[in-house]
Amino acid sequence: MQVQKYCWQQILLHWISATVIIWVLISGFYVAYLNVAPATRHFVAFVNVAMTTLFIPVFMLRWLLRLTRPKPRSLHDHLKHQRIAHVAHEGLYWTTAIVLLSGVLMMDRVIDVFGWFSIAPMLSNPFWHNVWFKAHIASCLLLALGVSLHIGAVLLHELSGRRVLRRMLP
Ligand code: HEM
Ligand code: HEM
Repeated sequence: MQVQKYCWQQILLHWISATVIIWVLISGFYVAYLNVAPATRHFVAFVNVAMTTLFIPVFMLRWLLRLTRPKPRSLHDHLKHQRIAHVAHEGLYWTTAIVLLSGVLMMDRVIDVFGWFSIAPMLSNPFWHNVWFKAHIASCLLLALGVSLHIGAVLLHELSGRRVLRRMLP
């Protein structure tokens, strides 16, 4: 069945994901590279680790919906452009998955989820913590680039008359 827009569940999950990802990217890089008080850095790390851990099942549900729900009809006439849009979106899913996986695997301390529950570190060897930390930074940079291109593409589509935004709005 050909539909014109995303279903409300996908729309809700898209905007929850966008809010979480944009906040964690900006605040994470901000405290990592700018001069902030140690207490602020610890607070942001605490909130972000807890929030992104809770985000993991949300993200899995979102990916499941992409695989199971009917795809909205493409706004592109050319097969080549349809493929580019598909690959770009697929890339955002895979990059987010690597960011989440590397985040969990780099943890050398307990993952404390707002004091509600905690998850023990998956790995104990500092060598692998360091490898996954590097993978986390690299995949975060890639995700930041991908999200910027994604927002730029949405803007360009809207400006050239292809109304993509309304497909992701209620
Ligand atoms: C959408 C998911 C995520 C995004 C966008 C994200 C983003 C970031 C960014 C931008 C940084 C700063 C990197 C740097 O130092 O250059 C960072 C650091 C970090 N991330 Fe993530 N992250 C995500 C998920 C996770 C998860 C699931 C965990 C662990 C459960 C995690 C644990 C950490 C830790 C421990 C740091 C170092 C901060 C510190 O302890 O001081 N991240 N993250
Ligand atoms: C202000 C920020 C954002 C805007 C305006 C926006 C807008 C949109 C729009 C209009 C679509 C539908 C494209 C279509 O018609 O096919 C879309 C899809 C998508 N967006 Fe965003 N987005 C934003 C942020 C993000 C962020 C931060 C992510 C995180 C990775 C993201 C990931 C995706 C993905 C993966 C899809 C494809 C959905 C699918 O087909 O399953 N977006 N976005």
